[in-house]
Amino acid sequence: MITIIDFGGQNNHLTARIVRDLHVFCEVTNDKKALEHIKQKQPQAIILTGSKRQPIELPSLPILDLTGVEESQQKDLISSFLFDQNSIPADWTMENYAKSAIEDIKQRVQDKKVLLALSGGVDSSVVAALISKAIGPNLTCIFVDHGLMRKNEGLEVEEAFKDSGMNFIKIDAETRFLNRLKGITDPEQKRKTIGEEFIRVFEEIGREIKSVDFLAQGTIYPDIIESGTDGQLAVKSHHNVGGLPDVIDFEGLIEPLDILFKDEVRELGKVLGLPNYLVNRQPFPGPGLGIRCIGELTKERLDILRDADKIFRSELEKAQLPNLGQYFAVLTDIRSVGVTNNQRTYDYTLALRAVSTKDFMQAKWVQIPYDLLDQISQKIVNEVPHINRIVYDITSKPPATIEWE
Ligand code: XMP
Repeated sequence: MITIIDFGGQNNHLTARIVRDLHVFCEVTNDKKALEHIKQKQPQAIILTGSKRQPIELPSLPILDLTGVEESQQKDLISSFLFDQNSIPADWTMENYAKSAIEDIKQRVQDKKVLLALSGGVDSSVVAALISKAIGPNLTCIFVDHGLMRKNEGLEVEEAFKDSGMNFIKIDAETRFLNRLKGITDPEQKRKTIGEEFIRVFEEIGREIKSVDFLAQGTIYPDIIESGTDGQLAVKSHHNVGGLPDVIDFEGLIEPLDILFKDEVRELGKVLGLPNYLVNRQPFPGPGLGIRCIGELTKERLDILRDADKIFRSELEKAQLPNLGQYFAVLTDIRSVGVTNNQRTYDYTLALRAVSTKDFMQAKWVQIPYDLLDQISQKIVNEVPHINRIVYDITSKPPATIEWE
């Protein structure tokens, strides 16, 4: 175990990634909390990183000072520090992590009950798989299908978990959500309504369940790393369904991914035997297709979007383009005149969006080759009724955002 003391800067987590990629476990702390962290975790060595170096008194452990060192030069220095100079073993692997995390959960939970709100996203799916391996039927997972999932997504989540030994409860809330969303076209109003309805559904379930011993959450490391001398949160926390409402009493939280980066979570998912389509999922917003279907949300329009989005995503995946961060279709509320089999049509315009991004705070639109765009466009208009025009979104963020609403 290595402690990285981060003195702030732009790329404060990259050093941690380099160390972990060398199969050595490390944790990041900031300079204010460093001494407490070291006392508690007893690291074998310390690495100093970041750009705003402050004076600090450290215990007598091996120290590598990387403050101000370019990222491209760090790997060689770190490798030589860890292995040549300090003979630190390279034994941090996901297989080992999975084993020890399962053991820890068993010890902590014993024969008590754990509840998890499963969103179908990567993080909560991996938490579900991990805890279920540890405690089987003492884990209950609630998966609310709000009808705003992508094509087959609800079924895929059910398929992955229904026979896993846990208590898997799928709540089919499509009709309920669509009824609440009837007539709403304003983006913020849609987001609010979807968020509120989620809370209502969970409150109702919570009233039936009343109490559990532990709540599990898919919090990951970037959500909690505090870094830099000012102690600011490095990553804004996202609203998701991880937090169940106050009506459920519980004695503790279980957050078994809270020391893992996103790609480590994916690797853990693979080690636990989750299918690739779950593990490699791109981020999907809580309000789902609700904010990718411009205008009123109806089942018919959502189904059109689901079919078109599926084609776009699978064609892009087949093409294996590099640097695709997020890619999806948006059903606009523009209708235009077209012609199919000599018949006039008046149908929807679909927009395609693909961006590359490091942190989702900024993003660049991806230059998909014209012939691939052409192939995708033809496939969608041929196979999906009610779309007669397709446009490709060529704006980056800023000034656009990744999602349209
Ligand atoms: P924007 O559209 O703001 O999106 O550029 C940035 C990233 O955040 C995702 N996103 C959300 N994720 N709940 C989420 O969990 C939300 O309400 C939400 N809205 C946007 C978006 O998909 C992109 O990855």
